[in-house]
Amino acid sequence: MNRLIIKGGNRIGGEIKLQGAKNSILPIMSATVLAKGETILKNCPELSDVYAAGRILTHLGCRVRKEKDGVLSISNNGLDKCSIPDKLMCEMRSSIIFLGAVLGECGECSLCFPGGCQLGPRPLDIHLSALRKMGVNVVEEHGCIKCRTPHGIKGSNIMLPFPSVGATENIILAAVRASGDTEIRNAAREPEIHDLLSYLRACGAKIECAGESTIHISGVSSLHGCEHSIMPDRIAAATYMAASAVTDGALRLTNTGGLDADSFSVFFEQMGCSVYHDQESIYIKSGKKLKAIKSLKTMPYPGFPTDMQAIMMAVLSRAEGTSVFEENIFESRYKHVDALNKMGADIKVYGKIAVVEGVNRLYGADVRATDLRGGASMVLAALSAEGTTTISDINHIDRGYEKIDVILSSAGAEIERKS
Ligand code: EPZ
Repeated sequence: MNRLIIKGGNRIGGEIKLQGAKNSILPIMSATVLAKGETILKNCPELSDVYAAGRILTHLGCRVRKEKDGVLSISNNGLDKCSIPDKLMCEMRSSIIFLGAVLGECGECSLCFPGGCQLGPRPLDIHLSALRKMGVNVVEEHGCIKCRTPHGIKGSNIMLPFPSVGATENIILAAVRASGDTEIRNAAREPEIHDLLSYLRACGAKIECAGESTIHISGVSSLHGCEHSIMPDRIAAATYMAASAVTDGALRLTNTGGLDADSFSVFFEQMGCSVYHDQESIYIKSGKKLKAIKSLKTMPYPGFPTDMQAIMMAVLSRAEGTSVFEENIFESRYKHVDALNKMGADIKVYGKIAVVEGVNRLYGADVRATDLRGGASMVLAALSAEGTTTISDINHIDRGYEKIDVILSSAGAEIERKS
């Protein structure tokens, strides 16, 4: 079992080249199922989830080739399967996004409930009720889903009860080659959705955005491959900024072009860091003593991102004063708290509320990553702790962070990966 050994106390600084966004490349890879010919994806992050998505595409009949310098080429000359086996579905949550794409291409799809981070029940009711509205027969039995569209997918007006990112993506993928028009209201607004839309438009899809939460799609009969550069990863950006903030460092992030940096830099400024950004980079300098943030409530974009909750909690565990988190997106996303408390943090959880009393120091300990962002928060705590921390089950971390040990080591961390 892989683990990270981190000796805390070093300042994290210098320069880090930011990776491409995990939550953008995954839906775009499933979208290639709908686009005939070759798609060239640039700025691809090297992540275990990307390899998992590649295995699903290969299983379906596409050819996936990892080129050099972060380029992935995907050739699709028609699928020879329209079902995805459990062993491929269970590797990550976003495998469910293949449902809309395979339905759009084949008119049928069978798969089981996906795997991924255990953040509480992760139902698919919003996905499935929207697909039923679009003329899809959906049968759920024994944890698997069998979908058929006897008369093809029909465009429809869909009002989402909650701006679910995955459901929005599945509906988009089912709609782009449907017959007729689809309007999605109360759609998710995360930037990764717009990266998916720009890829699909480049493939020939007809998509308009009316206002911030309404997406209008006119179905077309076919789509072709294209070239697309994956947007930078805003959560990875926040993670490396947090590494610098919590170790009193100064860091420049490059390859940040196109990111809405204000949407996540604002939280670092609230705790007393100085943050500057231009078209291509973000610069952060830690505040002398970090200040607590009285209230951090996770919300759909453009609110405080749930994926930043564990990351900010690690930093604020060292800030002066009391910070209060409210996790409103997932039912069980405080699994990292025990590990942070084992390292000397003072965090109490009351349901969806977590109260963080800043402490002067953290101490190295042996901990186990619980999920992707929880594992990242343990890395951050370890960087600022006195002594050495061992983090096991780092497969969770490798799902979303490219070579995190190499990156942090280049920025001054004493970190080692041991198998
Ligand atoms: C995406 O997950 C991201 N994953 C998550 O990032 C992110 O935390 C989440 O969006 C919210 O921003 C990918 O993009 C691969 P949701 P997703 O559907 O699509 C409930 C990370 O760390 N819900 O917006 O699964 C659901 O249970 C990961 O990178 C229903 O109730 O998120 C959750 O409580 C973690 N019924 C809430 O909505 C449904 O049919 C948000 O889920 C669908 C969702």
